[in-house]
Formats: sequence, structure tokens, C-alpha cells
Amino acid sequence: MDLDFFSAIEKELEIKKEIFKPNWSRYLDYDYIPPKPMYREQEIKEIISRIVDFIMGRATGNIIIYGLPGTGKTMSFLVAMKFLNQYIKKKNYKNVKIIYSKAKGAGISALMVDICSNLNVNVPRRGFSFKEYFREVEKFVENNWYLHICIDEFDNLLLDSKKKFEDLLYYFTRSKNISTTIITNKVDLAREITDARVLSSLDTLNVVPFKSYNKKQCYDILKERVDLAFVDGFLPHESLEHIAEYVAREGGDIRTGLALLRFCGKYAENAGIKVLNKEKVFDLITKYGILRDGELLKNTLSLSEKLAIIAVYDLSLNLRTDVVDASDVYATQDYYRSILKLPGVNRDSFSVYLTRLSTTGLIDIIKKGYGRGKGTKSNIRLKVSRDAVKYLLFEDPDTAPLREYVFKEYNDMNPT
Ligand SMILES: Nc1ncnc2c1ncn2[C@@H]1O[C@H](COP(=O)(O)OP(=O)(O)O)[C@@H](O)[C@H]1O
Ligand SMILES: [Mg+2]
Repeated sequence: MDLDFFSAIEKELEIKKEIFKPNWSRYLDYDYIPPKPMYREQEIKEIISRIVDFIMGRATGNIIIYGLPGTGKTMSFLVAMKFLNQYIKKKNYKNVKIIYSKAKGAGISALMVDICSNLNVNVPRRGFSFKEYFREVEKFVENNWYLHICIDEFDNLLLDSKKKFEDLLYYFTRSKNISTTIITNKVDLAREITDARVLSSLDTLNVVPFKSYNKKQCYDILKERVDLAFVDGFLPHESLEHIAEYVAREGGDIRTGLALLRFCGKYAENAGIKVLNKEKVFDLITKYGILRDGELLKNTLSLSEKLAIIAVYDLSLNLRTDVVDASDVYATQDYYRSILKLPGVNRDSFSVYLTRLSTTGLIDIIKKGYGRGKGTKSNIRLKVSRDAVKYLLFEDPDTAPLREYVFKEYNDMNPT
């Protein structure tokens, strides 16, 4: 290696030091728990007080923590739990245990395995039925314990079988010496439950609601992180105001704010910029939005769905219209298939792709009747941003070969 190579690296590391403070990545992490969370004192107090009631009465029951993503639900519960553990020790409450478990996509059995491992109870990782796992929890409790169990990201469990889901709710909400906290994004969780016996044991009124953060709250919360992660002066007040406004407008998800701060930091590092002014931040917010939506399309759509949405984009771009005809979309994606040397699809499967794109909110399908008995025609309108679809044509290797065909007549080949 020549010396220039190393001196270049050294220079880059110097730039990094002028932007980031030493532990920056920890403070911009989603899992970081601030020692004194702002704007959630009331909710944390509420959670603590209700759980103390459960513990003192060794009562059966549940709390539901409800709020949109990124409103501080997980953080608040963990802060409450930390306090409660100290409180239990201080007050010398014997045989009380609080456990926290996150439901992942892996289903109810995986959650039960996690709960058992939190209790130091040995169970097989698979092969048990829900009731067999639950029996192990009961056995633990029968040794004179009182348990409060928090199940975070509860909505993931809805992906498992309905029967198992309802069993879980039923047993956790009416077994002796067990109480539960359920954390959910669904305001109408109760609607998912059809079994009356389950519904009657779930306390749907015991809700601690988490309101979405407004602009000022987003600003103050993010400001704390900015001060911990970035060197003073890197992100001026007006620049952070822009970010806070965007985050609040997008639903107040603090995670969006943290991701955006990381994005800004990385950008500045690569570009060697030491101060991000508000114009630059404005620009970066747009880039970030496109990147996020584009990545979402790239990672969640099937190739057939991608072809359909690109066809909608292509037609509205080249015909300069807002709504396009579904049969034209069909013909266009068929043309793409021939370019990509893929087999064609029939109209029925094609309408399934369209329906899926419409239920996920990426397109609108507008049906129009020609008059009595004369059939209907479907028009399609793109709902996701054009730049996000364009992103597929530049960043997704599956669809990038179509780029030159889409932009053939259009002088718009610049990457987004
Ligand atoms: N009031 C707050 N003060 C400081 N940080 C917060 C606050 N609310 C949320 N955060 C941060 O935002 C991120 C997302 O919060 P989290 O509790 O995981 O949201 P939720 O569980 O509601 O989706 C975490 O990094 C958390 O530390
Ligand atoms: Mg959470």
C-alpha cells in the first residue's frame, strides 16, 4: 500500500471527528433508552401505577399500551420495568417477577420459548403445543410466584393461527397470579377477536394511549440525540426544525427522525461537509423519502407487481396523464416480459397483481361503467411517488434493464 492511500484514510477519519462525537452510533440507535425520556412522564407513571396495583393484589388482568409506531411505547415500558424492579427490591416484595418479551414474525411458539427462557424454564424450541408451553409457565407460577408479562409488538402474533392467538389471549388474561401488558399499534385490537369467551376476559378498557408527537416534541426529542451524537454546530437550529417538521408530518415516528439523522451524518461524512444548512437538509429529506419508498418497493414487491407498477409509471409519464387504462397497463407489462424473456401472464393473474398493489395503497383502481350491460373499464392511478418507482429502474437489478425502454422518448435518464 502506498502512503497516499493511508493519508487519505487518515484525512477521512479526521473529517469524521469533526462531525460525530465518539459514541454517536449508540445515541442514534433505535434501542437506545434515554435516562429521562421527555413527554412520556405521565404514561410511564400510569404504567407503573397499574402494574403496582396488579402486583399488590396478585391480580389477574391486563393493560393495553396503544400508539402508532415510534411513539415511545417500548421505551416507556422498559423505563417503567426498570423502576419496578428496583421498587420490588426496595419494598422487599418476594416472588414477583416482571418479564418483557417481543413477538417476532416467527409466531406464538417462538414467543412462548422466549418467555420460558426469561423464566429460566427449560423447554424444547419446537414441538410443544401452545398449551404445553403455557403449562410450563403455570408450573413456574405454582411455586408461589407472581408474574407480570409484557408482550411487545403483539400485532405480529396475528400472523399466526387465529386459534392459537385467541388461546394465548385467553390464558394470559385469566390465569391466576399472572397479569399482562400488551403493546399494540392497532387501535381496534378487540375487533380481531371473534371468540366471545376471549373478548370477555380481555380488559379492553385498560388502555394507556400514546399520542403521536407534534413538531415541537419531535424537535426536543431529536435535539437531545443530536447533542449527544454530533459535534456542536453541525446541525443548526433551522436545519433540525426542518427534520422535526418532516417527522411530525409523517406521523411523529421518532425512528424516522433517527434514521434521517444517520442519513444526514453519513452524507456529510462522504461529502466532507462540516455544517448542514437548511437548504441541504431539505434536499436530504427529499432524497431520504425517495430512498425509503424506493427500497420498500424493491424489497416487498414481487417481480410481477414491480412490472405492473412500472407500466403504470411508464404510461403516465409518456402519455403525460394522471390516469391510465388497465388494458394498456396489461399490454405494457407484457411487452416488458418479452424484453426480460419472461413467460407472459394471463389477465386473471394480472388483475390479482393490480388488486394487491391497490390494497397496499400504491395505486388506485377506478372502475367505470359504460352503461347498463355494456361492461366496465378500469382506470389506474399511481399513488406512490413517481420517484420511488423511478428508483426501481435505477437501483433494482431485476427491473433496471427496462430503463432504456421506459425513458426512450423521455429525456430523463438522471438518477434520482
Ligand atoms: N419521549 C421520548 N424521548 C426520547 N426518546 C424517545 C421518546 N420517544 C421515543 N423515543 C425514541 O424513539 C425510538 C422509538 O421509540 P420506541 O419506544 O421504540 O417506539 P414504539 O415502541 O412506540 O414503536 C427509540 O429510539 C426511543 O428511544
Ligand atoms: Mg416498540
